[in-house]
Amino acid sequence: MAIQPAARLLFFLLLVAVAHSSSSSSSPFDAALATLQKQIGYEFRSPDLLRRAMTHASYSRENGRALAVLGLAAAQSAASLRALAADHDASASAVSRRARDASAESACAAAAARVGIPSIVRVAAGTKATAAPVVCGALRALVGAVAVDANSTHAAEEVFWKLHVLAADSAKAAM
Ligand SMILES: *[C@@H]1O[C@H](CO)[C@@H](O)[C@H](O)[C@H]1NC(C)=O
Repeated sequence: MAIQPAARLLFFLLLVAVAHSSSSSSSPFDAALATLQKQIGYEFRSPDLLRRAMTHASYSRENGRALAVLGLAAAQSAASLRALAADHDASASAVSRRARDASAESACAAAAARVGIPSIVRVAAGTKATAAPVVCGALRALVGAVAVDANSTHAAEEVFWKLHVLAADSAKAAM
């Protein structure tokens, strides 16, 4: 007879655990992160990195700033490589221009908007989530987060090009 209350308690605890895990994975933020991963064609092994990337410095000390440094470098590396792979004789200024264009705030903000980053990134009240520096920082952090998650700048560059193509397609569609 003594076993019954214990079994009931266990069952209750199980229910609580299941309800807790399903409610935390179905928060709007987590649902948006799941969609984002599908859009970029990359699934994070450490979803914490993605959460961090989608968190602005105004919101938390655990934010995407450091990841964005890496993401920017990966974007510039991807663009420089593409320019030199296509033309070994490309001039230094031409390669610099391609690297600069690839990391320009306007292109970056367009790419970020295309995948819905303005409505995903967490910011403090009083900070505009749609501001170009905020969404660009988040996009760069996303690219950097992929690099860290995959331990590969190559994986990050692929995501960068994917984001770039998505933005170019939406620009065409808007014409
Ligand atoms: C990351 O990649 C480098 C180079 O391939 C390797 O030496 C290192 O052990 C890897 N680190 C982890 C944490 O997998």
